[in-house]
Amino acid sequence: MIPRMDRVFTRYRDASAEYTVGTETAGQTMTKSFGNDLCRPVPWLESFTVGDAVIDAEHRAMIDGCNEFCRLAARGAEAAEVAAVLRALAADFAEHAASEEALFPLIRFPGRDRHAAEHRRLRARMTDMIAHAPFAPDLPAQAAGLRALMVEHVLRYDLALKTWIEESRR
Ligand SMILES: [Fe+2]
Ligand SMILES: [Fe+2]
Repeated sequence: MIPRMDRVFTRYRDASAEYTVGTETAGQTMTKSFGNDLCRPVPWLESFTVGDAVIDAEHRAMIDGCNEFCRLAARGAEAAEVAAVLRALAADFAEHAASEEALFPLIRFPGRDRHAAEHRRLRARMTDMIAHAPFAPDLPAQAAGLRALMVEHVLRYDLALKTWIEESRR
């Protein structure tokens, strides 16, 4: 079953370093707010699953990697360490984007151009961060912002693959 987007939401406020993760049921909002605790990891939710084992495992690894990056940023790591972790994250994301883009024709996914453009936008954002973020005074907020972009991409773009993956198996 395809999860309804209006029942799953993730809201982030980068500037205030506050994020909320939760589910919405029957018009009632249940949230857990973590205030300024940037170290608090974003949990893996079943609703992130697109139904392809490789893609799901890569998404999980990317979210874990972003959580690790946030932890590192929040504890004030050295610039060289921050840059190395960001480079590894960017390499993992590039590999993951290639996995998804290789899947598009196999499942006859119609939104491939727009989706691939979004991958390029995220890769450019990461390249920019490798150059500037290690020295940024607001690194924790930037790390949380990058993580928010990654989760948002899964929810807004990657979950659209789910129907086509299921359809291709019939
Ligand atoms: Fe993805
Ligand atoms: Fe994607």
